[in-house]
Amino acid sequence: MKPIVFNNTVLRDGHQSLAATRMTTAQMLPVAPTLDGLGFGALETWGGATIDSCLRYLNENPFDRLDALKAAAPRTPHSMLLRGQNIVQYTSFPDDVVEAFVRCSAKHGMDIFRVFDALNDSRNLLTAVRTVKAAGKHAQGAICYTTSPVHTPDNLTALADELVAMECDSICIKDMAGLLSPRIAYDLVKAIKSRHNIPVVVHSHETAGLALASYMAAIDAGADSVDTSITPFANGTGQPDTVRMQAALAGHPRACLYSPRVLFELRQYFEGVAGELAKFMSPANDRVDSDALCYQVPGGMLSNFRTQLVEMKMTDRFNEVMAEIPVVREALGWIPLVTPTSQIVGTQAMLNVKFGRWKNLAQASIDIALGKYGRPPGVVSPEVLALARKQSGQDTVTCRPADLLAPRMPKLREELTAKGLAPTDENAVLFAMFPRETEAFYKPKPAAAAPAPVTVTSAAPASAKPAAAVSAPAAAGSKPPFAVPAGKTARYSLTVNERRYDATVEILN
Ligand code: CO
Repeated sequence: MKPIVFNNTVLRDGHQSLAATRMTTAQMLPVAPTLDGLGFGALETWGGATIDSCLRYLNENPFDRLDALKAAAPRTPHSMLLRGQNIVQYTSFPDDVVEAFVRCSAKHGMDIFRVFDALNDSRNLLTAVRTVKAAGKHAQGAICYTTSPVHTPDNLTALADELVAMECDSICIKDMAGLLSPRIAYDLVKAIKSRHNIPVVVHSHETAGLALASYMAAIDAGADSVDTSITPFANGTGQPDTVRMQAALAGHPRACLYSPRVLFELRQYFEGVAGELAKFMSPANDRVDSDALCYQVPGGMLSNFRTQLVEMKMTDRFNEVMAEIPVVREALGWIPLVTPTSQIVGTQAMLNVKFGRWKNLAQASIDIALGKYGRPPGVVSPEVLALARKQSGQDTVTCRPADLLAPRMPKLREELTAKGLAPTDENAVLFAMFPRETEAFYKPKPAAAAPAPVTVTSAAPASAKPAAAVSAPAAAGSKPPFAVPAGKTARYSLTVNERRYDATVEILN
C-alpha cells in the first residue's frame, strides 16, 4: 500500500483560517526552502484570500510573492485555490479575465489549480479548468462538501463524474467548514475511487474536531493525499497539524514519514511569526467548537461576521442571526456556505433579523435566487424568487452565467493605460478584481514619508528570572522599561512596533 501523502497549507489556508491571511512574504521566505525539502505532495502558497490581502493590507504585489516563493521552494509543486468564475473575488468575471488570470498564474509558476464553485455548478469551473489544461498545468476539480437534504452522497459523486468528464487531473473533497464525518469521508472517497482512476485529495478544517478522524477514514478508503498545516497555523479553524496527523497514523499500513526534527524546527519558527501576527489571531479560532456543526459557518466567516454584527449594532442578536442562517440557506436552494455564498447568506440572515424576514432583500441574494451565480443545488423558495423577480424586473438565468458577460480585457488595458499603469495582463486581472487596491498599490508613495516612530510596547528579560521582569508598556518617548544597571548588559525580548526582537541591552549612563 502506498504511504499517504501530505500537502502543506501553512502558507495559505493555515494563516487564512487562523491569522486573517496576514502572513507576509518576508515571514514566509526564511522557511520556504525547509518546507520545500520535506517532500510534501504540494505546498499551498497562493490564491484564496491571499491576493486580496497582499494588495489591501500588506502592500505586496501578489505575483511578486508567487515568484519569490517559487524561487525559494522550486522542488515541491505549488498549489492555489481558485473560485472558478469568481477567480479570487466575490462576483463572476467574463471568460477572458478568468483565462488571463490562469495564464498569468501559470506563467509565474503555479502548478496545481484547485478550482471550486460555491454552488457546485460545474459549468462555473469549465473555463478555468480548460485554461489550466491548455497551459500544461494540473487541474484539480473541487467538490464543496456540505450537508443538506439535497447534498446526498449520490449527488456529490455525480459532481465528481462531471469533473472527470471535464478532464480534471484530480478531485478534491473540500470540506471548508469542517462538517465531514469519518463515515461519510470513507463512503465518498470509496465511491469516487470505485468509479474513476483518479487521485483524490481531502481538505478539511478541525473547527468541530472531526478532521483528523475523517482523514483517517479517507486514508482507509484510498484517498491519495490530505491537507495538513503547521502549528500554530494549524488545528482549530485550520487544517490538522502535520505532526499530530503523522502520529495518528503510527502503525497504519499507509503511515508516512516527514522528518519530526525539521517539523519541530518549523513549528519553532512559526511560533515567532504567530507572535508578530498576534493581533490577528483569536483564541476562539483555536478551540474545537461543535456549534460549527449546526451553524455550518466556515471558520473564516465567523470572525468577519462578529465584526459585521458590531457595525450593525446587533451583537446582542448573534444567536437569532445564527438561527436564521439555515432558513436563508434553504430559501436560496440549500447553497453551500463558502466564499462568496457564506458572506451572502450571512448578510441576508442579518437583514432578516433586523428588518423582518425577506423585508429587505440584498442584491446578492436576488442574484443567487435568479441563478446569476449558477444553478443552486436545490429549489429556491417561491416566495423569495417572486420577490427577486419583482425587485429586479428580471427573470431567472438558465444558461451558464458567464455567457452573459462581455469580454473585458481590452477595456481593462485601456483603463490601466489611462491611469498611467503598465497595461500588462497581471495588472489587468488584479485591477479587474481589486481596482482601488491595485491603483493604490502603484500610486507613488510619498517619498518624504518619515519612518514610523519606534514604540516599545513591552520588554521582558529573556533570562529565566521572572521576578526581575520589567514588562510595563512604554509609550513613545517615555523612559524605556529596562532594569539594567549602568554599564551592565542583559538579554531582553522586546516588542517594537508590533514586531518581536531578542536584544542585548546595555545602559550607557
Ligand atoms: Co480550507
